[in-house]
Amino acid sequence: MAHAQPGIFALGTRSHHHLEFDVTRRGPEVLAAVAEACEAADAVAGVNLVVGFGARLWSEIAPGQVPGDFGDFEPVEGPDGFVMPATQHDLWVWLHGAGPDAVFDVARASATTLSAVATVAAEHPCFAYLSSQDLTGFEDGTENPPVHEAVRVATIPDGEPCAGGSVVLLQRWVHDLDRFDALPLEERERVFGRTLQGSVELDEAHQVPDSHVSRVVIEDANGEELEVFRRSSAFGGVIEHGLVFVALSRDRARLRTMLDRMAGRGDGLRDRLTRFSRPTSGAWYLAPPVELLTGGR
Ligand code: HEM
Repeated sequence: MAHAQPGIFALGTRSHHHLEFDVTRRGPEVLAAVAEACEAADAVAGVNLVVGFGARLWSEIAPGQVPGDFGDFEPVEGPDGFVMPATQHDLWVWLHGAGPDAVFDVARASATTLSAVATVAAEHPCFAYLSSQDLTGFEDGTENPPVHEAVRVATIPDGEPCAGGSVVLLQRWVHDLDRFDALPLEERERVFGRTLQGSVELDEAHQVPDSHVSRVVIEDANGEELEVFRRSSAFGGVIEHGLVFVALSRDRARLRTMLDRMAGRGDGLRDRLTRFSRPTSGAWYLAPPVELLTGGR
């Protein structure tokens, strides 16, 4: 059985740093540099490093280990000109730990190690806001599966290509907090479909069909809820701020369905949240199990 990268499930860390790279060298050289960066990060107590590969690069490194429906992020378009943009890169490195100083040091060291094979295309330093809240004040992660269930939700099953790995969605969302905060409490709660205090799901009488919860809670043909494991964190300062959304899943299909439903593709019902926050980036990565990171084939 292959083992997921442990940093995916290391909860409680308050400082996060996401780096996205475009590669300048071929797959095997990149994999060797990634292994070096992982080893260096392992030596720093309390900082987790998780790595993911874009479809093109991973197909070069491990052609037999690419899930059938895996590929680059394509823009997701909805009504009223709404677009979730695609900003796919080759490599994603996620560092997270207790505080910003050690995370910064490891992020910088990783970028230096990888500079032989790749250039930094984007970076997102992030932080945990209060007790796992989004900057809107609403608790983010209430319905996340607990870690013992998250492993099943977030890792590709045995027998499938890249088993033990995870499909990752990385999206940067910029909030318009002034507009959101100006809404009365009841309206703000309707946007998410949950209460601000206690994060309780609104009852049927108060739940609207375009609330965030109404759009992202989806089921399979047997009525089983299709879950994902979210590890998002807040970013920014007073001028621009929002959420770096990170979700890990055993397959890509459920995340694509959630994105389509948020954008209002198909039924035209756009997630109310997209009236107050807009995505400025979007990419898919594959976070392979540790066994493929050290001996990719
Ligand atoms: C601006 C971006 C986003 C914000 C601020 C946000 C915030 C939230 C909040 C506050 C909740 C309710 C509490 C919880 O269960 O965590 C929630 C739930 C959830 N969100 Fe988001 N979210 C965002 C984007 C997304 C995206 C892009 C997806 C999927 C592609 C997604 C999937 C989910 C799921 C699956 C749930 C759990 C629903 C449930 O089981 O009740 N979210 N989100």
